[in-house]
Amino acid sequence: MPLALTDRFRRPLRDLRISITDRCNFRCVYCMPKEVFGRDYAFLDRNELLSFEEITRIARVAAAHGVHKIRLTGGEPLLRRGIEELISQLAELRTPEGDRLDIALTTNGSALTVKAAALKAAGLTRVTVSVDSLDDELFQKMNDVRFPVSRVLDGIDAAHEAGLGPIRLNMVVKRGLNDGEIIDMAHRFKGTPYTLRFIEYMDVGNTNGWSLDEVVPSSEVVERINAVFPLEPLGEAVHGETAKRWRYADGSGEIGLISSVTNAFCGTCNRARISTEGRLFTCLFASEGHDLRALLRGGASDDELSAAMASIWGGREDRYSEIRSTLTPELREQRKRIEMSYIGG
Ligand code: GTP
Ligand code: 5AD
Ligand code: SF4
Ligand code: SF4
Repeated sequence: MPLALTDRFRRPLRDLRISITDRCNFRCVYCMPKEVFGRDYAFLDRNELLSFEEITRIARVAAAHGVHKIRLTGGEPLLRRGIEELISQLAELRTPEGDRLDIALTTNGSALTVKAAALKAAGLTRVTVSVDSLDDELFQKMNDVRFPVSRVLDGIDAAHEAGLGPIRLNMVVKRGLNDGEIIDMAHRFKGTPYTLRFIEYMDVGNTNGWSLDEVVPSSEVVERINAVFPLEPLGEAVHGETAKRWRYADGSGEIGLISSVTNAFCGTCNRARISTEGRLFTCLFASEGHDLRALLRGGASDDELSAAMASIWGGREDRYSEIRSTLTPELREQRKRIEMSYIGG
């Protein structure tokens, strides 16, 4: 049995995030702006995507190396036809200790009312849904395809009823766009079964025109909420988790703050990413991936695949979010960056 892997900074490989489509039915202004991802945009062809069998094979080898959690992302993963079949294949996998993997999905929620029950039946453990605003006009402005927030909220409830929990809700906060929604969002989800997490807007990809002025530091989010609904800090629930947790002092649940800009968490980063066409990226900000699809389609055995994964992870020394602030704007611009919709969130 392969040994658990660690990288150059002794970080283990625990979490595998797999992008199963580069397409999305939303055009969120901070992720897939319409001017770039328009009618003529060349998405990947079907034969370029990893097949379900190829994805499951990579996941099986990764599980033998210590991966405990698989997150399906995109683009919008629920656009991938037959996703339930993929989930049922992944649900068969076991860790070396014989446990099932945690199989999570990050979605914009638009298809959850239709799909939640089938996803649960296929073996999905939980979903994380992106919700950036409760104000319908602003929500539609942010997704830029006139999708109403009420349908996403219905989808979240459908996922809850189907038993896909614990459900987390992700809100990317962009100053001047939706930071006025912080308190409303906190209020709406306080005391519900859903944990709201505020994400600092990141400089991922090349198309969103990121600037530091548009980042609302998590400390400010906490201050603003605490002024209305007092908060108390909570400790780490799982080692290496992305979110710092705070609980409402009145006992009505908790929130999370994901501070990849102002308080980077590279030191405990145990995440590998597989892009839609099967490249392994050792960091969200890595400029190049390692082509696992070429290995798979070139007839590599499981042992060869396993050795390749071990060698890639063993050589890993990424910590982009920690070194970002030491880079000049020019150096940051020079880096080749990968779009979030291709590598997954
Ligand atoms: P849980 O298992 O539910 O804790 O999920 P998670 O926090 O690993 O994943 P999720 O997809 O909910 O992540 C939320 C957001 O955090 C992502 O969309 C990214 O914006 C950010 N994020 C997650 N992982 C990383 C990472 O490794 N590096 C950076 N810089 N940001 C990350
Ligand atoms: N910064 C932070 N989070 C982002 N996401 C997409 N683009 C960005 C960005 N630039 C989030 C989405 C979703 C997850 C997949 O990634 O809102 O929650
Ligand atoms: Fe689609 Fe999610 Fe990107 Fe929005 S953030 S465009 S829903 S992949
Ligand atoms: Fe991990 Fe890279 Fe994100 Fe740091 S920037 S937490 S190394 S993915």
